Amino acid sequence: MTKILLADPDPRSVQDLRDLLAQRGFELDAAADVAHALEPVADGDIDLVLCDLALPGGGGLRLLQEIRTTHPETAVVLLSAFGSVQDAVQAMQNGAADFLGKPWAPDQVLVAVDRALEKTALQKENHALRSALDDRLRLENVVGTDPRMQAIFKTVKAVADTRTTVLITGESGTGKTLLARALHSLSARRSGPFVEVNCGALPESLLESELFGHQKGSFTGATRDKIGKFEAANGGTIFLDEIGTSSPAFQVKLLRVLQDRVIERVGDTKTIPVDVRIVLATNKNLETAVAAGEFREDLYYRINVITVEMPPLRERRSDIGNLAQHFLRRFATEHGRPALSFSERALATLIAAPWPGNVRQLENLIERAVVLSQGPTLDLPDLPAGLQAAANPARSAEPDLAAGPLLPLKEALEGPEKRIIERALEQCGGNREKAAKLLLINRSTLFHKLRKYGIR
Ligand SMILES: Nc1ncnc2c1ncn2[C@@H]1O[C@H](COP(=O)(O)OP(=O)(O)O)[C@@H](O)[C@H]1O
Ligand SMILES: [Mg+2]
Repeated sequence: MTKILLADPDPRSVQDLRDLLAQRGFELDAAADVAHALEPVADGDIDLVLCDLALPGGGGLRLLQEIRTTHPETAVVLLSAFGSVQDAVQAMQNGAADFLGKPWAPDQVLVAVDRALEKTALQKENHALRSALDDRLRLENVVGTDPRMQAIFKTVKAVADTRTTVLITGESGTGKTLLARALHSLSARRSGPFVEVNCGALPESLLESELFGHQKGSFTGATRDKIGKFEAANGGTIFLDEIGTSSPAFQVKLLRVLQDRVIERVGDTKTIPVDVRIVLATNKNLETAVAAGEFREDLYYRINVITVEMPPLRERRSDIGNLAQHFLRRFATEHGRPALSFSERALATLIAAPWPGNVRQLENLIERAVVLSQGPTLDLPDLPAGLQAAANPARSAEPDLAAGPLLPLKEALEGPEKRIIERALEQCGGNREKAAKLLLINRSTLFHKLRKYGIR
């Protein structure tokens, strides 16, 4: 319940205000001087203070200042029988929600109270939103507030400090390599090495010596001792990329390291223990690869301990704006154009585009736009034409609408309405509240329409 404090030394004045405000269902409290007024405010349960300018113990302005600094969410409305214009100006400058003369008219007080409460409610909401934002998980350099990304961050933070093997799957450009690096830098191994191996690109003949090293003279061309990637990664992380296209020989060798955590250099029988965290990535579906006999089942089970699935960018559109701004800031600074910004329609087009190349495609596109753009704003002409067409399939579908059979208006509007709601939901990462705001309809209207169109 909304609580109002009446800070006024005059009992009659307090009584009049009580009579007026009690009718409106407010909970009321009273104090006759500054010190007594500050007590309930300090307890944090006063939403609004109606305060006489001539309050004993320092005056209404003193109370106002105190409240603004210690409890900014509490609104203050000042009342004065002898108030001058100057007092009023000073009060407003110090953050009073309103300033009223005495005697007051009931309507005047009620309007001032409502307005002040509305404003603090908004402030509180903003405050709550801001702290909710601050509670979001962050990984350095990794942008992502979409719920699926947040879940990934949570997993990464939880396992970072263990030696658990982590498998990262996802389409090309979704941020697998970036995440592997983030995992390393969050772990206690961060001061150790991070060694990347592209497993798909290793020729069979070099495989063993690349990974495990060799002894001088162990084969033609082995002119000196060489340590392999696993040894180089000792005390750190080894990132085995494109594991899905690695050769059968590679898979056997890897299985052995995973099992025994030891390696042998080629041409040497000595086993060397290695202390490495293994992170793997693939853009292939390993289960399918196992079923097709292209990937060893026993290896699959070994590496499928903690699996992180990076969602494609088109499935987390709520992140596109932030990513775009992130890249714009970076490239604008790099290319000496720090003041660049997006036009609204350019940003809307980016958010709606299909992004088959995921974050990498977005990143490249923005760098190109930064380099080629002229003015202070990146606008539609700075984006590739294909992107705009792809982002706006609805527009090209309009002629179809015009050509089709003429339906009753209400029925005809259902198709587009459904599509628009789906897009809004997609843009808001499935958050219905946000989608309703975006569409400027209230929540119950949105819920009604979701049911009507069977959208979940
Ligand atoms: N969530 C993200 N936040 C910031 N940059 C990202 C994000 N995801 C990807 N990137 C950037 O996009 C590019 C492609 O990411 P990368 O990790 O190489 O993808 P993958 O390894 O899945 O192909 C990199 O430059 C990377 O830094
Ligand atoms: Mg990669």
